[in-house]
Parts: sequence; structure tokens; C-alpha cells
Amino acid sequence: MIYLTNIYVLTCAFTFTLWNSIQPTVEDEFIANYSSSLLTNVPKTIPVCTEVLDLSHNRISGLSISEFIHLSDLQVLNLSHNLITVLDFSVFIFNENLEYLDLSHNNISKVSCLTLASLRHLDLSFNKFTALPICQEFGNMFHLEYLGLSATMIRTSDFRYIKHLQLHTVFLNLGNFSLYEPQSLTVLNTRNLHIAFAANQNFIFSLLYDGMSTSENLKIVNLRYTLSYKDFPSPSLMLLKKIKTTTLTLDAVDLQWAIILQIFMLIWYSPVEHLTVRNLTFRGPLEEPTEFAFPPLLSSVEQLISLDGSMKALTLEHVRNKVYYFNQEILYRQFSEMNIANLTIADAYMPHMLCPNRTSSFQYLNFSQNALTDELFQNCGTLVDLKLLILQKNKFESLRKVSFMTSRMKSLTYLDMSNNLLRHDGAGVQCQWAESLAELDLSSNQLVDAVFECLPANVQKLSLRNNHISNVPSGVTELKSLEELNLASNRLADLPGCGGFTSLQFLNVEMNSILTPSADFFQSCPRVRELQAGHNPFQCSCELQAFIQLERRSGGKLFGWPAAYVCEYPEGLRGTELKDFHLSPLACNTTLLLVTALLLTLLLVAAVASLCIYLDVPWYVRMTWQWTQTKRRAWHNPPADQEAILQFHAFISYSERDSLWVKNELIPNLERGEGSVQLCQHERNFIPGKSIVENIINCIEKSYRSIFVLSPNFVQSEWCHYELYFAHHKLFSENSNSLILILLEPIPPYLIPARYHKLKALMAKRTYMEWPKERSKRALFWANLRAAISINLPISSEANE
Ligand SMILES: *[C@@H]1O[C@H](CO)[C@@H](O)[C@H](O)[C@H]1NC(C)=O
Ligand SMILES: *[C@@H]1O[C@H](CO)[C@@H](O)[C@H](O)[C@H]1NC(C)=O
Ligand SMILES: *[C@@H]1O[C@H](CO)[C@@H](O)[C@H](O)[C@H]1NC(C)=O
Ligand SMILES: *[C@@H]1O[C@H](CO)[C@@H](O)[C@H](O)[C@H]1NC(C)=O
Ligand SMILES: *[C@@H]1O[C@H](CO)[C@@H](O)[C@H](O)[C@H]1NC(C)=O
Ligand SMILES: *[C@@H]1O[C@H](CO)[C@@H](O)[C@H](O)[C@H]1NC(C)=O
Ligand SMILES: *[C@@H]1O[C@H](CO)[C@@H](O)[C@H](O)[C@H]1NC(C)=O
Ligand SMILES: *[C@@H]1O[C@H](CO)[C@@H](O)[C@H](O)[C@H]1NC(C)=O
Repeated sequence: MIYLTNIYVLTCAFTFTLWNSIQPTVEDEFIANYSSSLLTNVPKTIPVCTEVLDLSHNRISGLSISEFIHLSDLQVLNLSHNLITVLDFSVFIFNENLEYLDLSHNNISKVSCLTLASLRHLDLSFNKFTALPICQEFGNMFHLEYLGLSATMIRTSDFRYIKHLQLHTVFLNLGNFSLYEPQSLTVLNTRNLHIAFAANQNFIFSLLYDGMSTSENLKIVNLRYTLSYKDFPSPSLMLLKKIKTTTLTLDAVDLQWAIILQIFMLIWYSPVEHLTVRNLTFRGPLEEPTEFAFPPLLSSVEQLISLDGSMKALTLEHVRNKVYYFNQEILYRQFSEMNIANLTIADAYMPHMLCPNRTSSFQYLNFSQNALTDELFQNCGTLVDLKLLILQKNKFESLRKVSFMTSRMKSLTYLDMSNNLLRHDGAGVQCQWAESLAELDLSSNQLVDAVFECLPANVQKLSLRNNHISNVPSGVTELKSLEELNLASNRLADLPGCGGFTSLQFLNVEMNSILTPSADFFQSCPRVRELQAGHNPFQCSCELQAFIQLERRSGGKLFGWPAAYVCEYPEGLRGTELKDFHLSPLACNTTLLLVTALLLTLLLVAAVASLCIYLDVPWYVRMTWQWTQTKRRAWHNPPADQEAILQFHAFISYSERDSLWVKNELIPNLERGEGSVQLCQHERNFIPGKSIVENIINCIEKSYRSIFVLSPNFVQSEWCHYELYFAHHKLFSENSNSLILILLEPIPPYLIPARYHKLKALMAKRTYMEWPKERSKRALFWANLRAAISINLPISSEANE
């Protein structure tokens, strides 16, 4: 069995692809949609497995059995909006599963019938039938629920074949209607009856009266009557007693005031519970609409009086008054005294409504889209059962007066004041709202921040959408019960906190002027479950990062994320979704930025320092400094008197063990070149017969400078010779610049005997010149040394030599 079904489905799919000269729109392999395909015939290529076939909006004028014979699974067939003129039900004889057949909007005037046993929905409305196309065979269609018909006349016997069927809905399209035999409809057995009368003809009121005694639910479109009120046909009392309708809807009603009153009174004393009248125009001539108080026509009928009180809900929508000069006060009095639960008078230019003069049974009042003002229901204490009050699209101006209006409505839970002209300047005067008020709609008014001083204390749901609020003032009266707050389309610059709203769960701040929402929102509002903050002009900068992180941490509490959250500024990021906007943490964290900058600087300094040390920059600097100092001193203190006795540029003292360096490096380098340097050397220039110290002193005294070649050898073996000299002759004070120390090798401090204070002091002050190991540095060393000893010796001394 399953195997066979599979093969069947495969065959279906196969034929579907094979036979497609005219292509139906394929959504599902069981639906073939040829709607609006300019077909003049039923296509031959319809897939055999089709269950739903839409051939509507074509130009098909005839049907034949061969076109449908293979469609054994067909359940739904839509042939509406074609040009079929003759219908023979036998073309569907092989479509045993056909349940839904729509032949509306054709040119059918003739039908030949056949029982289609499984049919549930048959629509023959908007055709060219004169008499109702109900044949005997319809009586065997026991599954029929919906029957759509059209005719220009209805006779008593027309429904006889289907009077035993339990129908759900009968739709009668009665265009160009000429004849109705009274009580024809009443044999029908249907829950809903829908009559679309001709738009341009006088309505036949028997249809209304009979319809009301036929179905529970009656809807009539196009009730017009232009003949005199005097010719208006009153209902027969017999029929009125059989009224079944509980819900009556009249659409497009255009009647004289007196006729409306008549119909209204009929309905008022009928079992109708819900009356809805849409597109109601009432016009003159005006029989002075005294009151609804009855007599006029039915007052004698006591049975009807006993039905008083059936009406529960009256809706009048889109009402236009073409009667001038009539006392509206009476009308308002009638409406306000009505003993019903629900009253809607919408879009009726109604400027006022009276306060009921006794405890009213109104629970729901909907006066939307009228011309009501602040004077409505002031000091009105009779609306004690009123729960819902809808006053949107009126002309209310003062929020305070609105609050006073509600103050005595003890049961009021819902108030819709949207789309008015409400203002509140908060000039000290207190507001006074109904304590029961739980839901308040103040959207689309002209309210500013001061509105928060005038709100009902127990409100749970509040809409202030589309006002002029720029800030939710802190320190406003607490609204402890507020769970839902709508502040969309205002002028807020930031998310409000929840200071006064401890129970807040839903907040809407869409379409405000929030550039960078503060990120501490959920700390301030821990109970908020949903924040709707999209469609704001977000400024995508560092401050916004916190908000984006808020989204990640909030766990889906941001409604509309990510599509509704888009950067507006800066220009370059406009249109970028916030979820795609990233800045590095460094760009936004000042501390991190500072620390990083500091680290980088330190690193740079270290690098430079190590480079300096590696290239021995300090040494060059020191040498250059010494050189310039020497030059400067030479410039400032030209050698004066002692020049006379000077014979040498410099005296050189060194250890015997360093003599190799002195002879190979120092002397050749100093004596080389111009300005020949005269050196006093104890080997060369010593006077025999004098002690070493005397010789040394002699040499020192005749020299402009004294050069000591310091090395561990020198310190240990030679220094002692000079200690004495230094002790006796304080010739070389510390400031003296005649002493030049060359440090040939580093002298570890422990090598300097403790008693050599002078040497230690000199070493500590680093007033020596280091002999550089690197060859490249030596040129500067020599230049420096030569500069230190350069002086013009007196000619005489030169002559002495
Ligand atoms: C067929 O397509 C039309 C629009 O092309 C659509 O209105 C109609 O619902 C479709 N019919 C079915 C059965 O889906
Ligand atoms: C034709 O009728 C079918 C069944 O109700 C419906 O789905 C389809 O939308 C109709 N086609 C058009 C164009 O209204
Ligand atoms: C179908 O009816 C329309 C409008 O009633 C009419 O214009 C048209 O000529 C008719 N077509 C046929 C084929 O009868
Ligand atoms: C209305 O019906 C009458 C006959 O009852 C006919 O003469 C007339 O042409 C029809 N009018 C229209 C617009 O169909
Ligand atoms: C009722 O009035 C509305 C608004 O004017 C209009 O759009 C609608 O078509 C009317 N309905 C009927 C049945 O005339
Ligand atoms: C009155 O209106 C309210 C609110 O729309 C609704 O819940 C209630 O069912 C209505 N009552 C009647 C009798 O229509
Ligand atoms: C209320 O108004 C009606 C109609 O104007 C009047 O008949 C009735 O006496 C008034 N009732 C009270 C309590 O004022
Ligand atoms: C008030 O009445 C209008 C018109 O009938 C309707 O559109 C609207 O939905 C009603 N409002 C409420 C809240 O029931």
C-alpha cells in the first residue's frame, strides 16, 4: 500500500514536470495556481495529483467534463472572475472529493444540477441569475456549510429544497433586485445570513425583518431608502415575535432620521444583543425626533416591552448627519441613559455626551474619533461600573481635567486618551485619578516632562509614546506598580533610570534622541526584562562600547537586537549595526592608554640608553666637554706671570712598567705635527745630583701641565713620590687645572692604599681622561689632550733649550 502511494506521488511529480506548456505557479505539488493567466480554457496540462486548483481571474467561458475527469484528488476549485455563462454540475462528476467550489463573479444564468455529495462550500454569488439557482439536488448535499447565491428576485418556494439543511452561512448577493415575496427567507436554516443588497436601490425592509427571524447572526450591506417616510413598510407583528437574531450588523446605511428611529426601536425591543451600524448617514426631512420614548409604532405591543434589556452592545461607526437644526441634547440624553454594557460611537463628529443621571450600567465606552472636549463627564459620579474608556482622537487639552473626569469612576481600569491635544504644565495644581486605573494610554499628545507629576498612582501600563518628553525627572512621585512604560518617539537624550519605578519590566525608548545610552541601566533597573531602545541615532564612539557590552551581558533583554540598533554618527559609520561596531580596548580605556604609553616611553629610554652605552656616547660627551672647558679656560685665563718660567708644555710622570705605552703612544702622538710640544720627562730631562723628588718638583715647576699616567702599577709604585710634594706645596689646589690624569688602565678601588687621600678624591671626582681601548676613539683623546696642554711658550725659554 505504502509502496503504491509512493509510486503514485512519483508519477504525479513526473507528470507535473513533463506537461508544463502553461506553467502554474508551484508552491506545493498539490496546488496548481493559474490565477490571472489570461486563460480562455481550462488548461489540458493540469497535474493529475492536484488537490487545489486556482483558475480565478481568467477568461474561461465554458467547462467540459474532459478537463476535470483526471483530477480525481481535486478538493478546492476556484473559478471566480471568469466569463462562464452556463454551468453544468456534471462536469465535476468524477471529482468525488470536491469540497470547495467558487464560481462567483461569472456570467452564469443557467445551471443544470447534479448532486456533489462532498461539497461543503459552494459560491454562485455575483452571477446573472434571475431566480435563485437552487435545484433539488442541493437538498442531497448534506455536507454543505456555505452557500453563496445571487438573484434579482426571491420567491416563497425558492428555498424549499434546502430548508432541511443545517447551514453555517448563506450569502445572498441581490443586485438589480426586483421582487421579494415576504417570508421567503424564513424557511432557511442557517446560523449566519449575509445579504449584500444593490447599492443604488431602495432597500426592501421585509428582507431585514425576515432576516432577523431567520438567523442568529445577520449582516446587511446597503440599506438605503429615498421614498417618503410615510411609505416606509412597518414590520408585521407576527414576524417580530419570531426574531432570532442576537448579533446584527448593518453596513452602509443611508436613511431618513424617522426611519432610523423606527428600526432602532424595533431592534431595541428585539432579542438583539449586539448591534453594529457602520457608515451610517441620516438625513431629513426631519420628523422632530422627540424621544426614543415609545409610543410611536410599537408601544401597544406589550409582548415586545417584555423583551427590554436584551441589548448589550451598541456600535455606531462612521456616522454622518445630513439633518440640520435638531436638538442633539435629546439624543445625548437617550444615549447616556441606555441600559447597556458597551457603547461605541466612533467617527461621528460628536461634540458632547451627557453624564447619565442615574447609576449607569456602562462598562465599556468607546467615543474615539469625535470632537469631545475637557468638559466631558466632569463631576460625573454615575459611571461607577465603567471599566474601559476610549477617548482617542478627540479634542481634550488638559490632562488635569482628564484626571478629574476619572476620579469618580470607581471601576475604571483602562483609559485611552491617545491622539488628543493634552498638555500639562505642572503649575502646582494636583491631579486626581481613579485609583483603580491600571492602564493609561497618553500617546500622541503634547505632554512634556511635567506629565510625571500627574500620573495615576497605581498605573501598571503607561504609554507616553510620541509626546515632547526630554527627560524623566528624578524625584517624581513613585509609581510602584508600573510594569510597562512606553516612551518611544519622544526627545529623550538618555535612558531613564528606574528611580521611581521599582517594578518596571518593559521599557520602550525607541525613536528618541539617544546618542550614547548610559551603560548602568540594568543596575538601576534590575527587574527590567525587556528594553526596546532601537532606532535611536546612536553615536558609535568609545562611550557606546559599554552599551554594546551591556547587550552581551543582558542575555537577550534588548528587544530588536541587532537590526534596530544602527550607528547614525559619525558619518562614516552610518548604517553600521552596533553588533558590527568594534573599537580596540586600547582606543577606549584611558588608564590602559596611559600605562601603555608609559611602558613604551620606558622601553624607548632603555633602548636609547643601551645604545648609548654600546656606542660609548657618555665617553665622547665627557671628552668633548673637557675639551671645550679647557678651551674656554685658556681663553679666559691667559697664562700670566708664571709663563715666564715655563719651559715645557707638560711634565709626564709614569710607572716604569707603562713606559712602553708612553714612548710608543703618548710621546709620538703629542710631539707629532705642528706646534711642537715640549715634554719634560724624568729620564730625559733629569738633572743629576738632585733627588728624585727635587727633580720632579723642578720639572713640575717648569711645566705648564703635569700629566700622570695612572695605572695600578703607577699607583702602587710611584704615587708616593708625589704625596710628599702635594703635602708640602699646596701648589696644586683642587681647583688647579694644571693636573692631567690619564687613566691607562682601570684601577680597582681596593688597589689604592688607604692613605692616598688626594688620589682617592681625584679618582672619585673622575677628573681623569680614560685611555680608550677602541682605536676609533683615540683621535679625539689625543685632540683633547693636546688642547689641554697647548700654550704658547715664551720665546726665551725656547731659546734656552
Ligand atoms: C494564486 O495566486 C494568487 C495571486 O497570484 C493568490 O492571490 C491566490 O491566493 C493563489 N491561490 C492559491 C490557491 O494559493
Ligand atoms: C480561490 O479560492 C481559494 C480557496 O479559497 C483561495 O485560496 C484563493 O485565494 C482564491 N483565489 C483568489 C485569486 O482569490
Ligand atoms: C459578462 O458580463 C459582463 C458584465 O455583466 C458583460 O460586460 C459581458 O459582456 C458578459 N460576457 C459574456 C460573454 O456574456
Ligand atoms: C435589471 O433587471 C431588469 C429586469 O429585471 C433589466 O431590464 C435591467 O437591464 C437590469 N439592469 C442591470 C443593470 O442589469
Ligand atoms: C464605509 O466607509 C468607509 C470609510 O468612508 C469606506 O472605506 C467603506 O468602503 C464604506 N463601506 C461601505 C460598505 O460603503
Ligand atoms: C464589551 O467590550 C469588551 C471590551 O471590548 C468585551 O470584552 C466585551 O465582551 C463586550 N461585551 C459585550 C456584551 O459585547
Ligand atoms: C433622568 O433623565 C430622564 C430623561 O431625561 C428622566 O426621565 C429621569 O427622570 C431622570 N432621572 C433622574 C434620577 O434624574
Ligand atoms: C473603538 O472603536 C473603534 C471603532 O469601532 C475601533 O476601531 C477600536 O478598535 C475601538 N477601540 C477599542 C480599544 O476597542
